[in-house]
Amino acid sequence: MTSIPPLYLFPPFVSLTPMKQAAFQQCINPACGATYAVGEIKVSCGKCGSLLDIRYDWNHLPKIKNLNFFEHRWSTKGTGTEGRLDFSGVWRFRELLPFYRSEEDIVSIGEGRTVLQQADLLAQQLHMKPGKLLLQYEGLNPSGSFKDNGMTAAFTHARMVGAHKVACASTGNTSASLAMFAALAQMQGIVFIGSGKISFGKLSQALDYGALTLQVKGDFDDCLRRIRQIAVDIPKLGVYLMNSVNPFRLEGQKSIMYRILEALDWQSPDWIIVPGGNLGNCSAFGKAFAELKELGLIRKIPRLAIINATGANTLCELVDRGLKWDDGKFDPTIIQKYYAGLDEANYRPHTIASAIEISRPVNLPKALRALSIMNGVVRQVTDDDILEHRAMVARWGFGCEPASAASVAGLHMLLDQQIISKDETVVCILTGHELKDPNATVKYHTGIDMKSVQDMAPRTAPHGKLSNPPIVVADDLKAIIRAMGVDADAIDLPKAKKAGDLPTVEY
Ligand code: F0G
Repeated sequence: MTSIPPLYLFPPFVSLTPMKQAAFQQCINPACGATYAVGEIKVSCGKCGSLLDIRYDWNHLPKIKNLNFFEHRWSTKGTGTEGRLDFSGVWRFRELLPFYRSEEDIVSIGEGRTVLQQADLLAQQLHMKPGKLLLQYEGLNPSGSFKDNGMTAAFTHARMVGAHKVACASTGNTSASLAMFAALAQMQGIVFIGSGKISFGKLSQALDYGALTLQVKGDFDDCLRRIRQIAVDIPKLGVYLMNSVNPFRLEGQKSIMYRILEALDWQSPDWIIVPGGNLGNCSAFGKAFAELKELGLIRKIPRLAIINATGANTLCELVDRGLKWDDGKFDPTIIQKYYAGLDEANYRPHTIASAIEISRPVNLPKALRALSIMNGVVRQVTDDDILEHRAMVARWGFGCEPASAASVAGLHMLLDQQIISKDETVVCILTGHELKDPNATVKYHTGIDMKSVQDMAPRTAPHGKLSNPPIVVADDLKAIIRAMGVDADAIDLPKAKKAGDLPTVEY
């Protein structure tokens, strides 16, 4: 059992904070701990530039006596205000993410009704005992990935603050989820994707749901840098940022852990294993368990394993170099040196698991905190391992996309290393649906790279009434703003950052 002194995890705050609200935003840096109202739109601390959490003054909120309280909602039909929220696998736990003003704010489309499968056939392949391996199928969400858990929460906040334009950079699933929620919430969705970097299934979703899709000539890290400039540094553009630096996203993603606990009769498993990309999901898991422990609702916190792909292994490399949360006093020079090395080598992340092809994960400090809360480990697995384990999940489970299978490949490695024993109960998070990336599957089984076939195919101009082709744009701020339909010459572009400038911390 992992015991945790709560004050080391979250900075202290004065009960009923200066804003006199039971929910508020707080800087995760214990040496700062600045607080902001939930009505503010922020993705970093205005004082020190660190990431923000959503925090709750639990003493001034209705007391949750035990987790069984949530069970009766599971079978609700989904009509009426209460029914609509009870039906959602996120909002049926709404007392654990009570940042909204009223239930009318909540943007929900029945997300999070996902399945925890006891995967005995797959367990047998890994020489585990029956009942010990469980797969959490987040691909069963409406847009086909776990992102819907977070989007419902971030869209709820966007509606609370009156946002009309919402945007993200994405390796594919975030953009699909954002585009779907934006269409339903009647907001303009804008997505930045790296050129040639996202799978066709995911691209097709962003186009089909009507998002303005900008294919920026660069990779995910370039896209995220640009979208932060657009949303944070040029407020005049009125763009609300939906990437996982948005702390409201992670509030929704906590619910994945609640559903696992619910399926296990509120008993914690021994391990949770999750692929690591931008490190939002693992961060949300750590926060979920820290809060449940703080509230006295669970006794045991499971251990966490975060699995990187070898071509996008920043967390693994940094942890190997000794980086750890250290009660919030982690050493940023380890990160700075590592990133300087990446720049010098002009390193570009590369993996078949395109969803996690990221070398500068924005939630890094929160992931370090989650590793500390959950006594976690980090590993990296090769593309071949990912592909083989993806095929195993398909043959002996219900299938998943390549990035998701990193969790099962990581489990296999941790069993071989005897870090996980065969008697322990393990939940692997399958983050995205198998049909997200059919090219990877077809190539595995036939050797044919559908992408090269598609590239050679003759093109016709799109002519459907609702055709919404992507716009290819240079990795250039002015060009991007123009592609958004805004007169870039009428906008004061942000000056190049001087060292020490706030608000964003660049490691
Ligand atoms: N698995 C899938 C299928 C994903 O799409 C992602 C992230 C991850 C795992 C990693 O999760 O970023 O919270 O560590 N996809 C993002 C996107 C980056 O843009 O769709 P993370």
